[in-house]
Amino acid sequence: MSLQSEIRKVVKGDVRFDEPMSRHTSFRIGGPADVFILPKDLEDLIVILAFAQKQSIPIFVIGQGTNLLVRDKGIRGIVIKLAAYFGGAKTEGDVVCAGAGVRLGRLVKLAANKSLSGLEFVVGIPGTLGGAIMTNAGLESSCIGDIVRDVQVMLFDGTLETLDSQDLGFDYRSSNLPKTMILLHARLKLHEGNPDEILETMKLFMAQRRSTQPLSLPNAGCVFKNPSGDSAGRLIEMCGLKGRRVGEAVISAKHANFVLNLGGARAADVIRLMDEVRNVVRTRIGVELEPEIEICGEA
Ligand code: EPU
Repeated sequence: MSLQSEIRKVVKGDVRFDEPMSRHTSFRIGGPADVFILPKDLEDLIVILAFAQKQSIPIFVIGQGTNLLVRDKGIRGIVIKLAAYFGGAKTEGDVVCAGAGVRLGRLVKLAANKSLSGLEFVVGIPGTLGGAIMTNAGLESSCIGDIVRDVQVMLFDGTLETLDSQDLGFDYRSSNLPKTMILLHARLKLHEGNPDEILETMKLFMAQRRSTQPLSLPNAGCVFKNPSGDSAGRLIEMCGLKGRRVGEAVISAKHANFVLNLGGARAADVIRLMDEVRNVVRTRIGVELEPEIEICGEA
């Protein structure tokens, strides 16, 4: 039996072969994944992991792909997308319990409906809870790591583990959760708030985002981390790079730390543009910019 029919036989969820990753990234860029699976449930996930282990097939887990640049030749092995079936969310007192596949936007609304405060800053951040925790998403002032109480993860051998927030090594735009663990579930500690104040704060955060960030063309948010005490966007603008274009990838005129896909941008265009930005900022200002987005796959 071919590997493809074997996979179809053991997996209950949606299985696709040579699936363009451009369909699963907010950049709308990315070559094909050899195998792309939306596991049906936890049992299905365990079966997939066991199959991959046995056949020595690499695994790559994604959420909504909002912080991801997949190179043009795509991803070898199995890509697992948790979004579809790992999406439950509820509150228990002032704690929000949610699956890794839940969209942040849905969580903010749930918290606001229950008059729970602490998650307002997340409004407008695209992506899933799982991705947000792995990358400690947030603003300059607050990040998701500040409110995580604990998470449940699955190891590649199928065992489950609960990790407390202090085990996760949250730092600026990073956690220490290894790629050999799949984040399944998290509990977020919020506090009771005033419903009007919660909505007002959300409106302010959203207005701030709309006025400073380009939200209409495909992008992956800020492409570089902020160097300590400064803003990458400010430095890139200072170097006169707003509007700089390679192929169909362009540096936003609104926020210089955003690269926009004008239509048919390839990952190679974005990478060339990012290399150019790093070189110019290093030469002119002496600052080394580090990518904030995750770059994966084959060139
Ligand atoms: N600025 C410029 N030119 C630009 C962009 C920004 O001069 O093109 C200046 C602004 O005027 C401001 C300062 O730089 O004085 C900071 O800008 P901003 O408030 O837009 O924040 P940021 O540091 O560029 C960070 C996060 C964003 C997050 C905002 C929330 C990083 C890399 N970026 O951006 O996160 O939305 O704060 O205010 O940490 C992301 O993670 O993908 C992301 C976009």
